[in-house]
Amino acid sequence: MAVSLSINGEIKEVDADPQTPLLWVLRDHLNMTGTKFGCGIAQCGACTVHVDGAAVRSCQYPLEAAVGSEIKTIEGLSPDSSHPLQKYWVEMNVPQCGYCQSGMLMAAAALLEEIPEPTDEDIEAYVDNICRCGTYTRVRAAIHKAAADMKA
Ligand code: FES
Ligand code: FES
Repeated sequence: MAVSLSINGEIKEVDADPQTPLLWVLRDHLNMTGTKFGCGIAQCGACTVHVDGAAVRSCQYPLEAAVGSEIKTIEGLSPDSSHPLQKYWVEMNVPQCGYCQSGMLMAAAALLEEIPEPTDEDIEAYVDNICRCGTYTRVRAAIHKAAADMKA
């Protein structure tokens, strides 16, 4: 199925089976490798992208469902990596191996869009991505700092 997708504000042409997971479309068809493959069963969150502003797990999101929506990936979170989350991710040394972190950032960004001043409980509920390096404490702290910046 040949379709047009709107990704990070650009139109991309893709020819793939309608059931192809969006993750494979991004990585294999469009060579956008910032979005990671972890579990493949919508559990770990490494593959998180936004579809119409909502965080979705792209390993279980079929291409056909993405047509007509605005998709945002880690490559499009900000034009120059200046999103407050990215700033505090760097300042507070959040990533360890880094593998889960693009998914973490996309989940955190969707959370702040919906809840500008999240509590720890909100963060736990929304950013339930799995990090094998255990960066959860720093993730939470960086989200709070970014939220304060975005409010100011
Ligand atoms: S790779 Fe999609 S949730 Fe783990
Ligand atoms: S930073 Fe290594 S898996 Fe999260």
